[in-house]
Amino acid sequence: PRSIWLSRHGESVYNLTGRIGGDSNLSHRGEAYAKALPGLVAASVPQDAHIQIWTSTLKRTIATARWLASSKKQYTTLEWKALDELDAGLCDGLTYGQIKDRFPEDFASRDADKYNYRYTGGESYRDVVIRLEPIIMELERSENVLIVTHQAVLRCIYAYYMNVPQERSPWMEVPLHTLIKLTPRAYSTEEQRFTANI
Ligand code: F6P
Repeated sequence: PRSIWLSRHGESVYNLTGRIGGDSNLSHRGEAYAKALPGLVAASVPQDAHIQIWTSTLKRTIATARWLASSKKQYTTLEWKALDELDAGLCDGLTYGQIKDRFPEDFASRDADKYNYRYTGGESYRDVVIRLEPIIMELERSENVLIVTHQAVLRCIYAYYMNVPQERSPWMEVPLHTLIKLTPRAYSTEEQRFTANI
């Protein structure tokens, strides 16, 4: 690819209350990020380049890309189930505090080995890396792609391009309301970050 732009969805209603997973809408701030995104992207995209926008199938990523998708005709969108957030299974919709209270052993096992820990009825980071394989393959043969996805998924894609061992990806910081532009070069990947002024 020429460049890859990565963004988490704007702040969601669940983010506000510390609940994980789910399929909530954007908060007011999250909506403000969605509106700011076309400007952030336009500032870092070559004139007239065709940009594919890939989202997950969840409302918060689709809503984040909404203004972008309608802003320019050279932007086209595609929804991928493989870009949905790590499935927290039984813990979906809970806060970390509730998980710790209700499933203390799971909470401790996840902390001890976050990459391999699989939520009951859900997924591990290792599972996410495997389901991302088709995405990475498609990315490799695409030109300019902007991916709007979720924290865990973004960590895995970012780690792949930045050559970070996947075992470390679950602990990486990927802030909200920040657009990351990655440009693969011969021996490394160049990174630029653009933070929305909202
Ligand atoms: O809190 C936002 C979120 O995307 C959750 O939906 C998800 O379970 C979590 O982050 C993933 O981060 P971590 O693996 O650090 O719990």
